[in-house]
Amino acid sequence: MAKSAPDISLTFIRLEKSLKKPLYIQLYEAVKEAVLSGMLKPGDRMPASRNLSKDFGIARNAVVKAYEQLMLEGYLGGKTGAGTFVSVLMDQPEFLPQRNKITRNDVTPNAGLFSPLSSNRFQSPYMGHDSSCEQRIPFQNSFPAIHEFPFKTWARIAAELYRNIHTLHLGYDHGQGYLPLREAIASQLRISRSINCEAGQIVIVNGSRQGIHLISEMFVRANDQCWIEDPGYTGAYAAFSRAGAEICPVPVTAQGIDLDYAVANYPHAKLVYVTPSHQFPLGITMPLQERLRLLKYAEEHQMVIIEDDYDSDFRYNGRPIPALKGLDTKGHVYYVGTFSKSLFPALRIGYIVLPSPEIAGRFALAKAITDRQSPVIDQAILTEFIRSGHFQRHLRKMSTLYKKAQDELCELLRLHLQDQVEVYPADAGMHFVIMLKDVSKTDFLLQKRASAGLVLMPIDNLSLKFKMPGYFLIGFTGFTIEELKSGVMILKRLLG
Ligand SMILES: Cc1ncc(COP(=O)(O)O)c(C=O)c1O
Repeated sequence: MAKSAPDISLTFIRLEKSLKKPLYIQLYEAVKEAVLSGMLKPGDRMPASRNLSKDFGIARNAVVKAYEQLMLEGYLGGKTGAGTFVSVLMDQPEFLPQRNKITRNDVTPNAGLFSPLSSNRFQSPYMGHDSSCEQRIPFQNSFPAIHEFPFKTWARIAAELYRNIHTLHLGYDHGQGYLPLREAIASQLRISRSINCEAGQIVIVNGSRQGIHLISEMFVRANDQCWIEDPGYTGAYAAFSRAGAEICPVPVTAQGIDLDYAVANYPHAKLVYVTPSHQFPLGITMPLQERLRLLKYAEEHQMVIIEDDYDSDFRYNGRPIPALKGLDTKGHVYYVGTFSKSLFPALRIGYIVLPSPEIAGRFALAKAITDRQSPVIDQAILTEFIRSGHFQRHLRKMSTLYKKAQDELCELLRLHLQDQVEVYPADAGMHFVIMLKDVSKTDFLLQKRASAGLVLMPIDNLSLKFKMPGYFLIGFTGFTIEELKSGVMILKRLLG
């Protein structure tokens, strides 16, 4: 197998089965367009026809026919046994139309970088321990299926790296992070999240928390209004709060953050933090129309949008929606990603996609003030893990496993607790939400959960103003079916 490129998925392509145009022609045209626009890069490895036909729910023959035509025309190339690649001929400048480049002038001119931190408004309630993963207790959230992680492969890559260690891996590295990793991430993002970015726009950080903190440090000054989803991610509130911001809780509707409410109540906001792919914690996917509205508003009002795409790697229903950053032509979206969910949280590798390499350079300087750079060896191991196709394979395996776990857990909850809880399965991610039909049992459950052997996070712990009593977050990914079953039985006993 070729080691130079990851096995990609073409999630940004849509095929319309209702159209008269044959599916293989639709696929052929979409890939051709992606190559010409630069979404697919020379050397990118195309998915195997078998996988693609499964992903799109179309006949394998249709994929083979589209690939053959693209090869004939020189867009794709390949070697027997090595896979199909975007042709290197596509690297010739005369072959490609000029892609939209983001210039320095397009970038949000607000907010002086290195804004002073004003600690007088610092509040600490969100800084506490947030139930990470020392122990496996159902229904702990943010807990990947560590027992299924391919540690042997990881260890083999690490051993090989140490055997052939290069001074490059042992000294001070580029503050933006290990270049091959940034290249691999950019390639993944172009393909799976429709984000047209380059390695130069990426800064590697120690988890998305550090990314959010850095953005806050750069843009938020004392008393700046910051819109946050409520309920939402406490790690983000903590960062803005620490910078002295005026935290502006905005309710979440079935369309994601309530833009009308935000505009009516906090018209002077400078920054908005959102989780549009899978709202944390309610699990809502922001529809395209709302994304465009938010972008337009941010452009008109010179706002910074932080897009936290923390767990979009796992999708169970429907095709992945392109990231908000993929729609951003003016450089208002600061995209934050992490490997904490797709691999494991202790790795502490995340990244920010900045509007331009120049801004990325300034972020690297700000990061360097506190920790100079993220650990290079872990980044190098991760790079090889991605390049040799193990990352995509792991994501596919985990998606199947997580879907099964969620389906079985929902079934068990319905079977044993039908009269007690309402279940809201998630289309994506690693948790879902349940609601107690009898809200008066909330306090009893909160008192008894820990001693009974359950982790049950009330949504109210994640909300500032818009409380949702009786709603709880259920993590389902880190446990065997047996462990989930025992969790349901404990819950049944407590609610019984
Ligand atoms: C909404 C959200 N963003 C990001 C993260 C991950 O943070 P990190 O990458 O720092 O581990 C979490 C973890 O629980 C989260 O819930």
